[in-house]
Amino acid sequence: MKALVYEGPGRIALQDRPDPVIQAPGDAVVRLVKTTICGTDLHILKGDVPTCEPGRILGHEGVGVVEAVGSAVSDFKPGDRVLISCITACGKCDYCKRGMYSHCTTGGWILGHRIDGTQAEKVRIPHADGSLHHLPPGVDEEALVMLSDILPTGYECGVLNGQVQPGSTVAIVGAGPVGLAALLTAQFYAPAQIIMIDLDDHRLEVARQFGATHVLNSGRDDVVAGARALTGGRGVDTAIEAVGVPATFTLCEDLIGAGGTVAVLGVHGVKVDFHLERLWSHNITLRTRLVDTVTTPMLLKTVVAGTLQPGQLITHHFALADIMNAYQTFGAAAANHTLKVIISP
Ligand SMILES: NC(=O)c1ccc[n+]([C@@H]2O[C@H](COP(=O)([O-])OP(=O)(O)OC[C@H]3O[C@@H](n4cnc5c(N)ncnc54)[C@H](O)[C@@H]3O)[C@@H](O)[C@H]2O)c1
Ligand SMILES: [Zn+2]
Ligand SMILES: [Zn+2]
Repeated sequence: MKALVYEGPGRIALQDRPDPVIQAPGDAVVRLVKTTICGTDLHILKGDVPTCEPGRILGHEGVGVVEAVGSAVSDFKPGDRVLISCITACGKCDYCKRGMYSHCTTGGWILGHRIDGTQAEKVRIPHADGSLHHLPPGVDEEALVMLSDILPTGYECGVLNGQVQPGSTVAIVGAGPVGLAALLTAQFYAPAQIIMIDLDDHRLEVARQFGATHVLNSGRDDVVAGARALTGGRGVDTAIEAVGVPATFTLCEDLIGAGGTVAVLGVHGVKVDFHLERLWSHNITLRTRLVDTVTTPMLLKTVVAGTLQPGQLITHHFALADIMNAYQTFGAAAANHTLKVIISP
């Protein structure tokens, strides 16, 4: 089969690889129908994720058709159309039983990281019963690719961890696919204000279309003064950090109001300053999280109901044969007005 292989920092290539086979009783082999590229794949390509070794097939998102299952798989059979979760869950270990699938002792984020992933014609999925979801009939399968990772990430790590409440004020720093996913799912709770902050005017315009009540460009505007003016001088109730650099963590510390919650969703590679000298008396909560995808069944229901329209996040389409171009387009997102790209094997 054809597969996109990480060859070391700065190097990826489309290679011919053997088809995956069942290795354990809980495995399924899935033929990909649609997959995509994540910001995290770009982190791997930069060499930021040393646990991902050269030779690895990348990708942790996708929808497909089950081709084969191991003897212990009870919920899926060949021919089933499935959504692949970016997080692999055994369902039995201590972490899984607490809903912390991201820390599953024999799973977690392994797909396209520690085992071969979805940017290929086929993929092996360990713990298939805990890591696949049946596709609801009658919904756009392509749009459901957004539920493999970015929508549960925006919702769980941003909105739930950020304790977004009806009538509250929310700032989201970073209007990439993940920040926009937080914007879409924050609206489940009807906050009074959602202030979207980015450096890219096009993404801010998209955020406005997706329901942001205010947008601020941190390359141009005095964002802290702007947010204070919008919140009667108090600062926001929830600040969601969806970039992953020290400057945006500091910005969240400057934006948060007394009693508020900072939810860190960005993948951070270096240390940040935590301003306890200002924040100790402000009753703030700081929360971090690796996505668990424990809310995927609920998010699927909101898509079926039409409350959530994840297809809005898709801007480009490529064939698997053209995946190198897809990486280039996704990597230069600002120049190409890219959000999520769909790749069809
Ligand atoms: N916690 C998790 O489980 C989890 C899961 C998936 C992704 N992530 C992380 O979420 C983050 C966002 O992912 P994405 O795919 O949307 O990334 P992205 O790179 O597409 O988006 C980041 C956005 O931040 C903006 N930005 C950069 N510097 C900025 C600054 N100084 N001020 C304001 N805006 C700035 C960029 O213009 C861009 O729009 C990444 O760090 C990614 O690795 C975390
Ligand atoms: Zn991802
Ligand atoms: Zn487990």
